[in-house]
Amino acid sequence: MQVIDTILAMREWTAQHSDKPVAAVYTMGALHDGHLELVRQARHHVSANTGAHPYIIASIFVNPTQFTNADDLAKYPRTLEHDLEMLGSVGVDAVFVPSVEQMYPTGHANTVTVEPGPLGNEFEGVGRPGHFRGVLTVVNKLLNITAPNYAMFGEKDFQQLTLIKAMVAELNMPIEIVGVPTVRDSDGLAMSSRNRRLSESSRVLAARIPEALIAVKESVVRGNPIDEALNAATEQLAETPEISVDYLVVTDESMHDVLANGRGRVLIAANVEGVRLIDNMAIEIKGA
Ligand code: PAF
Repeated sequence: MQVIDTILAMREWTAQHSDKPVAAVYTMGALHDGHLELVRQARHHVSANTGAHPYIIASIFVNPTQFTNADDLAKYPRTLEHDLEMLGSVGVDAVFVPSVEQMYPTGHANTVTVEPGPLGNEFEGVGRPGHFRGVLTVVNKLLNITAPNYAMFGEKDFQQLTLIKAMVAELNMPIEIVGVPTVRDSDGLAMSSRNRRLSESSRVLAARIPEALIAVKESVVRGNPIDEALNAATEQLAETPEISVDYLVVTDESMHDVLANGRGRVLIAANVEGVRLIDNMAIEIKGA
């Protein structure tokens, strides 16, 4: 596995590896099995679609422009050696680990940015203004630098995935964005780098978050109205004072509208003793 820290060397590597499709997995490090699943699914997806075994590029870059709180950025876990070992263990071919200066040579407060549109100000964007602008800007840069045919993103960050798909479609970028289902621990909690911030007791309580999503799904499948299902799950969560729900909603797949019919998502953001967690699941309303 080659570790590359300049844009020039990354471009050279991609140019020298044009004989097979390239799939990319972008990360901010602090890797867990959810990230490794993106790599496994990259191989599976490309092989199934093209019959070719792809080259896989990963990146590790803690992107300053998507943090809206300087303290969060400073405290973000940096575990490079361990991350590289993990990526090596799943057969990644090259890892791009640029410095902030490489990525933002004019300073990151003074750069061209990608505007996400109205969805960027909803849900996760409400409390973190500018977060999705930072995400789209860095993903756009990474796609331009690494020039993959495919790029994999976890469904756990569903709003991020939705906005990246929209950016690629609307800016006519010739890349397939592939969403990968969330990897969960045995108690159902979605894997996330943030889980390491949970105390032992909060970790146990956090499992009530996916339980709430399942409750909404099951209630809707039984034919209950969405509002009723959401209210019941919200009331259930309110019985745990350590959990404060920021939002629990059902939207269509584009996240622009409430779900009336067909496939959509039930999404939640909640704080568990000060640690903000997000999760979502697919939901389907049949008939009408
Ligand atoms: O999901 C993440 O880890 C980050 O938002 C991403 C996509 C790597 C951009 O910095």
